[in-house]
Amino acid sequence: MTSYENLRHDSEILSLIDAANNVLGAIGYTEHGVAHCVKTGTDAGRILEHLGYSERECELAKIAGLLHDIGNAVNRSGHAQSGAFLAFSLLRERNFPFQEVIAVTTAIGHHDEKTAAPVTPLAAALILADKSDVRTTRVRNKNTVYNDIHDRVNYAVTNSEIDVDKEKKLIVLTLKIDTLICPVMEYFEIFLERMVLCKKSAEFLGCDFELIINDTRLL
Ligand SMILES: [Fe+2]
Ligand SMILES: [Fe+2]
Repeated sequence: MTSYENLRHDSEILSLIDAANNVLGAIGYTEHGVAHCVKTGTDAGRILEHLGYSERECELAKIAGLLHDIGNAVNRSGHAQSGAFLAFSLLRERNFPFQEVIAVTTAIGHHDEKTAAPVTPLAAALILADKSDVRTTRVRNKNTVYNDIHDRVNYAVTNSEIDVDKEKKLIVLTLKIDTLICPVMEYFEIFLERMVLCKKSAEFLGCDFELIINDTRLL
C-alpha cells in the first residue's frame, strides 16, 4: 500500500488529519484539514515535477504534503517533529521502502517555520507549498477577521498560485490581496519570515524566488 491515492483515502490518516484540524480550530488557528493538506501535497509534487524530479519523488512530495500537519493532533508546539514520528510509524506500518520513510520523515520534520530548513528537495518543495497556501477559505469564522491578523490576511487573499518556470529557474508566488480588507503591509507583518524561507527553499532547488502581489513584484 505505497501510493498517495491509498493514503489519501486511508481512514486512520483521515482521522489524524481531522483530529489535528480540530485541535487547531479549538485554539483559534485557520483551517489545516484535508483541503490544506491535499493542496500542499499537490503543489509540492507539482513543483518537483516541473523541475524534472522523478515520478516517485513527486509522489513522495504529495505524501509529505498530505501528512505534514498531523503532528498538530499531538500539540501545535513541536508539531513538525511529532508529525514526523507519526508519519514514520504510519508509513512503516504500510510497508513503504525504508529510504522513502526517511525522506518523508525528514521533510515533515523541517516544515514548521520556527525550525524549518530546506535540507532536501522534498523538504524545500514542502516548505514552498505549505507557506504559500493562504486563502479566504482557510478562515473558519468571518467574525474574527477584524480582530485576528492571521484570519484577516488569509481572508483578504482572493487568489494564490505558486508556479515554476524551469527555463528561467524561477519559482513565483502570485497573490491577489483585497486591500480593502487588509493592507499589503499586514501580509508582510506575518508572512515575511515565511517568504524568506520560501526564498531559501527556492535557492536550494536551484531557483530564484519571486513574490508578486496585485501585479507588483515585491521580492
Ligand atoms: Fe505545519
Ligand atoms: Fe501546513
